[in-house]
Amino acid sequence: MATRMIRTLGDECLNKVCKEVKEITPRTLELIDDMFETMYEANGVGLAAPQVGVLKRICVIDVGMEEPEPILLINPRIVETSGEQVGNEGCLSVPGKTGVVRRANYVKVVALNEKMEEIEVEGTELLARALQHEIDHLNGKVYVDLVEGELQDVKPDDEEGEEEE
Ligand code: NI
Repeated sequence: MATRMIRTLGDECLNKVCKEVKEITPRTLELIDDMFETMYEANGVGLAAPQVGVLKRICVIDVGMEEPEPILLINPRIVETSGEQVGNEGCLSVPGKTGVVRRANYVKVVALNEKMEEIEVEGTELLARALQHEIDHLNGKVYVDLVEGELQDVKPDDEEGEEEE
């Protein structure tokens, strides 16, 4: 395992629609391991493959819940949403910034695991936010375009409460 360089805003990889994964190769498994390591190293709660420069529909999430985490999603799609939440969001590709984003409060996602088996992941609140944020990355979208009001600087004493994806 190794950590990979996280691309930041302005890198064109963050604005590309990623390709579906057709098969799991040893390289794919290495990428997945590296994505988890990179996310944990950066104290993030989620990371999508384009953030490390790979234009494939893969993301990893760990918002610190016991079950069902950590989550690996390959070719994920949102099949159900409900409710609404408004809250602060951050992104490992936009270091030091946060902004208010409106999201569904509940989502159900269908995806594949590393064995190419279909899985279903449901989440509310922070997990729902992370699922929507990461799947946006796979479609070339970064949360800054959804921010209501101004992007804010993360205050150093605030860092505890900020989740970066
Ligand atoms: Ni992000």
